[in-house]
Order: sequence, then C-alpha cells, then structure tokens
Amino acid sequence: MSNIGSYEEMRETFTWEISEKELGFKKGDNINIGYYCSDRICEMGKADRLALIWQGHSGEVKKYTFDDMRVYTNTIAHYLKGLGIEAGDRICLFMDKVPELYFGFLGILKMGGIAQPLFSAFGGESLFTRLKDANTKAIVTQKKHVSKVRKIKEELPELQYIIVVDDDGKKPLREQEIAFDMEGAEKIETFDIYPSMAETPSVLHYTSGTTGQPKGAQHVHYSLISQYISSKYVLDLMEDDIYWCTADPGWVTGTSYGIIGPWANGVTQCVLDAGFKAESWYKFIQDHRITIWYSAPTAIRSLMKVGTDVVKQYDMSSLRHMCSVGEPLNAEAVIWSKDAFGMEFYDTFWQTETGAHMICNYPGMKVKPGSMGKPFPGITATVLDLKTHEPIQTPGTVGLIAFKPGWPSMFRSYWNNEAVYKSKFINGWYISGDRASIDEDGYYWFVGRDDDVINTGGHLVGPFEIESALLEHESVAESAVVGKPDPVNMEVVKAFITLKPGFDASKMLELEIMNFIRKKLSPLAMPQEIEFADSLPKTRSGKIMRRLLRAKEWGEEIGDTSTLEDDE
Ligand code: WT7
Repeated sequence: MSNIGSYEEMRETFTWEISEKELGFKKGDNINIGYYCSDRICEMGKADRLALIWQGHSGEVKKYTFDDMRVYTNTIAHYLKGLGIEAGDRICLFMDKVPELYFGFLGILKMGGIAQPLFSAFGGESLFTRLKDANTKAIVTQKKHVSKVRKIKEELPELQYIIVVDDDGKKPLREQEIAFDMEGAEKIETFDIYPSMAETPSVLHYTSGTTGQPKGAQHVHYSLISQYISSKYVLDLMEDDIYWCTADPGWVTGTSYGIIGPWANGVTQCVLDAGFKAESWYKFIQDHRITIWYSAPTAIRSLMKVGTDVVKQYDMSSLRHMCSVGEPLNAEAVIWSKDAFGMEFYDTFWQTETGAHMICNYPGMKVKPGSMGKPFPGITATVLDLKTHEPIQTPGTVGLIAFKPGWPSMFRSYWNNEAVYKSKFINGWYISGDRASIDEDGYYWFVGRDDDVINTGGHLVGPFEIESALLEHESVAESAVVGKPDPVNMEVVKAFITLKPGFDASKMLELEIMNFIRKKLSPLAMPQEIEFADSLPKTRSGKIMRRLLRAKEWGEEIGDTSTLEDDE
C-alpha cells in the first residue's frame, strides 16, 4: 500500500493541515527546516538511523546517522554565528556534492541564514552575477573552486568570508579566506536554533528567465509543509526506504527532494559525488540497496542508450519506486524503464518557483506514458487561454499551465526584483511559463515552454545571460542564442554570431568562443554549435528575433513573421 492510497480520495479530502499536524506544527509556531531535518528526527527516537550514505568518485563511502547530522549542522551553525554572520544574511554554498554541502545547508538554516546554493561547475561570471545580486556575505567552498572566487572577490564588497572546507595547509590561504574542518572542529552538542517563523526566508535559488540576468527565487521555512508531504505522497518515502536523488543541490530538486523533504521524513539518503556513468549508477543502486530513485529524463535517456543488457548485469531488485523531473519524460523512456527495471518512471512537474511537486503521477494511479499526471492534492491547477488568461474548458486545448497561489512552498519573491515577481501573477493565477493541455481524464500533457528559456538536460539556461557573455568576446559583434534539438539532452545551446570587422569565421574561432563561455558561465551554457552569420533577423524596433532562429532549428513553420514582431 502506498502512502497516498487512492489519489482521487486524497484529492477530495486533503488539506495542508494534514502535513502541519504530522510535523506537529500549528500556526504561529516556530518552524526551522534545519531543526525538522535533524533534531526532530532524533527526538522521535531515530538518532541512530542513517541519514546520509555518501560515496565519493574514487569509491570511498562515509556514513552519518541523524545524530551525527544533528551535531555537524550545529557545529556549522555555531561556527557561522561566531564569525558574526547574522540571521537573514545570504551564505552561498559552492561545492561538489560533499557531506559539508548537505550539512552546511541545514547549518545555515539553523542559524537563521539564507542558504544560496550554486552549482559548483559555474564559472566566475555565473558566480559573480548571483553573488552580486544577493549581496552575499559568505561563501562556503572547496579548494578546487576557490580560484574562481579569488578572481571576482574584489568586485564583491559585501563578501566578507571565503570559507574553505578542505584546506590541507599546503598552499597559504589569502585575505578573507578561512579554513573550516567540519569533522575536526569541536563538536557542538547543543545549539540555540534560530526561532524562524513560517515566513522567515530560508533558501535563495537562482533560475533563468528569457530577459535579464538570472533571478533569485526566495523561499521561506514554511515550504517544509509542501516538501514533507509531497516526499511522502509522490516519492512514497517510508520508514525503511533508502532513497537516492541524483540532482545536485545547486538546483531546486537537489534541495527540496535531495535534502529537505526526505530528511524531514527521517529517511536515509544516498549521495554519489561522481559524474554520470551507467555502470557506476547501477552498481551504486545495487551496493546500497536503494529502494526509491528520483532522477531526470536526460539521465534516463543516457541509460537507455547504453542498453537494457547493462542493467540486467546488476541486481536492481531493491528498487520499488522511481520518479523523474526536469524535462518532458517521453513515452519511450517510460516504456523502456518497464522493460529494464520492471517498473515505470513516474513523471513529476514543478519548478524552482513552486518549491515542490505540482503535477505528478502517484503510486496506484494509472500512468499514461508521456503525461505529467495530475495536480498534487491541495494544488489548484489549470491551463489558461494564451490570450485571455481565462481557464480553458475544452479538453485537449493547449494553454498556459497556471496555479492558484497560496501553496506552502510557493516562492515569496524574486530577490531585488518585485516587478518581475508581480508579472508572474495574472487574473489571480501564478503563470508557470509552460504550455500544456489537459485531457478528458484530467491528465496534463506538456507541450513546451512559453518563452525562450533553454532546457538542456533538465537545466534551464537563459539566452540573455549567454548572449551577454558572448558579447564580451573580442570578436563578437552581435549574438542570438536558442535551443536546438538533441536526442539525449532534449535541447542544447546554439549561438548565432556576427563578427566584428577584422575577424573571420573559422573552426578555431568557434572552439575558442565555446571554451570562453564554458569557463565564464558553465559547461551547460556552452554552445554546442556556433553559426556565423552576416546578419541576424531583427524586428522593426531592432530586437533580434530569437524565435525565428529557433523555429528554423526545430524545423517548425515560421509562419507570419509580423506576429513574431507583435510578441516583442
Ligand atoms: C522548468 C522548471 C523543479 C524541477 C527541476 C527544474 C521544465 C520541469 C518537467 C516535466 C516537462 C518539465 C519546465 C519547468 N520541467 N519538470 N516533468 N516535464 N518539463 O526546475 O530549473 O525551475 O525548471 O523545467 O519547463 O518550467 P527549474
């Protein structure tokens, strides 16, 4: 029997109070995610249960109980407070998936700080934009990433501390840099947890839009109410599960369902701090007897490419439920997973802004391969007419996916950007920026994004951020960036470029520009293809028409370009 039981019945009777009650929370109480994930689990008599099974890239394994986690998060919280970091300060986590990242996240929340996790593959410029916007006070990092921070710190006057968690003393640290050794530090048994309230800011996750630089979606401690109960109903996490979320905490899946939800449920999580390789992933599941697995379509398609024979060489019998998020999960991948693992991947749809699951498939509910499923109990969803923004009544008609505001984990603002935040709400609905249709049985079918944001391997990249970075290359006069179809990553970045006088298009220059972006932004943002053009298509007002270039890449009808102009 699954946690949710019958989806239809749960949908009728559900209120968020069910989650509040299970967590022992009443309106007006303090609520601190750091406490709920560690101390509370210990208080419930599960102190000796494993919280984290961590495996590094060379195969070494470390295990931590909930009590270890309670003490390490206290130790970090105490340390940060001792530096003079205060509640409400932004503290960036810029690390690979090491234990310090997970415990650091909860430690920051315990002392009232706002955790700002950033993907460790980000280059200097991606890092700079986000630290500058958030006026970040401290960054916690590893020595392998510290050089990226050194290059930008002069331009970040608010950044006071660069905390290095694995300093070995071989190379001297520089000004502002301090070493912190989590396991070697004096253990703090009891820590006065910050008395955060429901609306106290907790996490700041940067996400990309069509225009402007990335925006910080700001969440609050009350998000726990959504994350806890959806981990239970959607991921079906139970007492004895061994759970693996493959996402990096630099992205929201890695925090909502790679830290908060599962640990608030007292479940053991596995973390593999290594790159993707089918054989090592299967071995990881086999070795740790993983029961619940949360991953992404790009990974699933990569596994598919390697073939079913490889899966069959490993013992996957521990698995009992598998979910997917981040991009459309194509029907073939769902059908393949049934053949390969004897069970299907369950698609889930949500966003950085929603903080938790919104439209999902649930254990026990019939899966229609290719559909994202139905709204989470407690969530009012619809698709809105593209022009009038009124709910569409006719099944099968494509509209904008929208949600009635007010669910616990909804973002509360974009950092420093109230105007854009407000623009996301129309006619009393939160507009997701995606298009879908709803069939006669109430299942949602994803169609595509309603904007120019590129989804590569489940990661959103904003064309504007890449275009701006391209313009910093000495040869580039103009640029336009679009997504182009890719069999594994769904989309990859393609750049159209016009060159400044004196520069000639060549393979060498193409590679040089690609590398320039990889270093500056990230491997995700790096164009996989550059097309040098004499000119770029523009509207009458002079704006580059990305959509026209995109349509060409996808072999779509371009149609009447005057409507494209109207859109601008
Ligand atoms: C965007 C949100 C929160 C999950 C990680 C990504 C796309 C997400 C699905 C899905 C089709 C999906 C949407 C969405 N997306 N899940 N199941 N099917 N598309 O969070 O970086 O904020 O991205 O990812 O376009 O808006 P994110």
